[in-house]
Amino acid sequence: MKTIILFIGISLLFWTCTQDQGQSSSNQPAKKKVEKKAESSKKVEEGKGVGEITHVDLNNPLVAEMVEKGTSIYELKCASCHKLTDKRVVGPGFAAITERRKPEWIMNMITNVDVMLKEDPEAQALLKECLVRMPNQNLSTEDARSVLEFLYANDGQEVGS
Ligand code: HEC
Repeated sequence: MKTIILFIGISLLFWTCTQDQGQSSSNQPAKKKVEKKAESSKKVEEGKGVGEITHVDLNNPLVAEMVEKGTSIYELKCASCHKLTDKRVVGPGFAAITERRKPEWIMNMITNVDVMLKEDPEAQALLKECLVRMPNQNLSTEDARSVLEFLYANDGQEVGS
């Protein structure tokens, strides 16, 4: 009798161990996801937003050609919702945005707005204020970089020749 109980006990132990192993290997992708989430929330903490842009090298003085290109993109795709003053129309006015936000955050907002509105607390706060979701403007990273240059010029930074 004792041996039977012992046998059942041991097989039960064995069974739970293999169960565990099965679980942990199926947990692998979930773990990866958690790591990725942690990475993006780290960027959120640094105020850089969520997206591919993790580092921007700024120009001083600003590059005139980029400012010019950024200006025409702004006029074509952004001016209907964003004024250059601090006045809000549909979206917030752009005045002093380069002082409020990190350049990475601004570029992620321009190129990755859907994810930003889902995951970045600052972007979500804006959505609460404005009540309208900014539509994805389909700008390339390069175009977004020119718009950023234009935003610095709008905030009074010197433009080179
Ligand atoms: C249809 C209106 C609309 C258009 C067009 C639009 N936006 Fe927006 N934008 C918004 C709204 C609304 C918000 C606030 C967040 C939200 O509610 O989605 C916003 C927020 C932003 C912010 C953050 C502002 C802040 O104060 O931090 C940036 C940067 C921005 N937009 C850049 C742009 C750029 C650059 C373009 C053009 C390429 C553009 N947007 C086009 C509506 C628009």
